[in-house]
Formats: sequence, C-alpha cells, structure tokens
Amino acid sequence: MNGLAGKRILLGITGGIAAYKAIELVRLLGKSGAEVQVVLTGAASQFVTPMTLQAVSGRPVRQDQFDPAHEAAMGHIELARWADMVLVVPASAGFMARLASGFADNLLATLCLATAAPIALAPAMNQQMWQNAATQDNVMRLQQRGIVLWGPASGDQACGETGPGRMLEPEALLYRVQSHFSPGALDGVRVLLTAGPTREPLDPVRFIGNRSSGKMGFSLATAFVAAGARVELVAGPVALATPAGVDRIDVETACEMEQAVMDRVGGCDIFVGCAAVADYRPERIANQKIKKHNDEMEIRLVRNPDILARVAARPAAPFTVGFAAETQDPEGYAEKKRIAKRIDMIAANLVGAPEGGFERDENALTLLWEGGREQLPMSDKRQLAERLVAVVAERYLAARHPSR
Ligand code: C5P
Repeated sequence: MNGLAGKRILLGITGGIAAYKAIELVRLLGKSGAEVQVVLTGAASQFVTPMTLQAVSGRPVRQDQFDPAHEAAMGHIELARWADMVLVVPASAGFMARLASGFADNLLATLCLATAAPIALAPAMNQQMWQNAATQDNVMRLQQRGIVLWGPASGDQACGETGPGRMLEPEALLYRVQSHFSPGALDGVRVLLTAGPTREPLDPVRFIGNRSSGKMGFSLATAFVAAGARVELVAGPVALATPAGVDRIDVETACEMEQAVMDRVGGCDIFVGCAAVADYRPERIANQKIKKHNDEMEIRLVRNPDILARVAARPAAPFTVGFAAETQDPEGYAEKKRIAKRIDMIAANLVGAPEGGFERDENALTLLWEGGREQLPMSDKRQLAERLVAVVAERYLAARHPSR
C-alpha cells in the first residue's frame, strides 16, 4: 500500500518550527509517486525557503495570492481544482483559526476555501496553545465540517515543554496519505462499537455515572474508518464530535445501550465494547426529585445486562473485543474476563495510575487473545487506536481465513 502514482497533493506549509519536517514529507510523497505542489504562507517562509522546497518537489513554490504570473488566469481556482488532497503541514494555531473563520486573506487559506478536495491538517504548536479553549473550539468546528486532523502527538516540544502539540513524523503522515487513497485492510467490514459512560438515573435530576470520556472509543471509530470499515458507534453521554464517516447513535443508560447494540449487531463483523457500562442501576427511578428527609438513605441497585457477553454468546457472533480497566493486576483479571465472557480479544489497561486511563489523552494497553498477546506502549489515544485496529484487523482476518 504505498503507490501514490498520479495523486496530486497540494501541500500547504504554515509558520512553525515543525515546518522543517515538511521538507522530508515532500520528498517521501514524491518518492511514492505523488505530484506535490507546495504553497508557503508568509510566516512559513521564515522557517523554510522556497528554494529548498522547489528542489525537493520539482515545482516552483506558490506564495503570493496576487501573483500576476498566475492570477491573470485565476490561478488560485485552477490550483484548488487541481488538487486530489490538500494537506497542511504544519498547521499552526493561527492558520486553524483563519480556516475555522473562513478567512481568505492569504493564498493557502483561499485555496482551502476554494477546493472541493479533502483537507487534512497536521497541527503543531506549543501544548498550551493546543489546549487553549479557542484552539479546541476551532478544532471542533473544523472537524464538524469534515476537515481531518492528523495528530498532534504528545511529547517533547521545541519550546522545551512537554505535552500535546507535537507534529506527527513525516513517515506517519505519509502512511495517513497512503491509507486515504488506498482501500484499507478492513475495506467494507462492518464494525459496531460502544463508547463512553452510561448514566443510570435516580430521579429526574440525578444519576449514577463514571469518569469515562469516550476518547478511546471515538479514536477507535476514526481508526476503523481509516482502515476502510463501515462504522456504527453507540455512544453514552460524552462531549466529543462525531468522527467523519461514522454513524453515531446516542444513548444514556446501559439498557438503552444494550437495545441499540442488539438492534444493529446482526450482520456486523466486529464488535468492540469500549463503553464503561454501569454494572448496576437503581431499582426504581423516582418521578420527582428525591428530597432529603433523613440522615441516611438506601438505594437498591439491580444488575445491568452485560452487553459484551451477550453479543459474544450469539449464535453467529461477530469477532468480539472487550476492554478491562483495572486498578491492579490488569492482565490477570483481563485474561479471566476474556475467558468468562467468551470474547475473542481483550485490551487490558491500568486505571487510577499517574499515567493513562480514564479522561487522559494517553494510554497503554496489553492485548490478549487465545495463544497470543501484544503490548501497546503508552501513547496518544489516537495513535494507540490505530495500533489496536491493526492488531484487531490481523486477528479478525486470521479467524475468518485460518490459512492466512
Ligand atoms: O466486567 P467488566 O465490566 O470489567 O468488563 C468490561 C468489558 O465489558 C468492557 O469491554 C465493557 O464495554 C463490557 N461491558 C458491557 N456491558 C456491561 C459491562 C461491561 O458490555 N454491563
């Protein structure tokens, strides 16, 4: 899966120290057969030179929105139509704000508005800038419009800080471009996922819930789409945007989640139970807000259905994957759970530790299946999801075609 022959990539570079990595990406894209037209913003030319990029891309670099040599013939529209994909590497916080607001005040922003081609951004910035509410707001708006964000990763930054905001490496970005143009390993495979917490109501205003953010499940949905799968995502209450290409069903309680899953599981090939489903729910839900009358009160809880175990017990069960979040001995408990629930694979993770787990952007997992295991090291949940999907795809294909 590396041929990009004849694919036309419009590669925008905005101002940031990570711009030097774009040079390597242009070289890698060219080696894979893509035609690359580089567009530099004014700020980007403070970090990398048009001369270098012209040499690696084999084409003159475009910089000026009002270049008489091109604009006599509506050059920006021509270029916007030419592209099979627009890739902005790195995408600075300022450029993302410009794009989110629909400004057309430089050539690259204008091209992004004028193109019908898919747009992917590789953000790179200081971790505080990335986490700033304004940037996160822009990210949400861009994603809602179908613009794809690749990265950022977490780690050491050029400014000396550590956190989310590092641009993905050129090789990782090349892989994303290749998977965009080539059908993935799970082309046409139907995947059903659960994600997020459930809420079990006590009365009209109160509920029993948990700290699951849904980040892992939503990242998995994105990674399954990238691998070519058709993805349905049954989500508990979370504050996350629906990943592009995903069919999302919102639910609140475990019983609603079970119903939504059972309605859709027939004909599905892979089921991933990523939701933190409440094990118990209040036996009765008060019609009115419960008043404080006594010093103590008792709430009787009853067991919720185990969605994952029920899916795995179906006669023509899909390939089933579960999660085990444990505060101690994650592998031991996970293996017992895998066997008890009769599922094909389990992803064990440690929660309550200083790193990883609920609400965090990073996590580490150990995958266990009959006769095998794989350790996925601590990384950004998006990267982790891609690795997990790669292993699930491999095991699913091996189970369906034992000769592989
Ligand atoms: O038994 P435990 O809750 O630890 O199992 C966790 C796994 O089972 C997760 O994959 C979770 O999504 C799934 N599960 C479920 N329905 C429940 C409880 C857990 O699908 N009621």
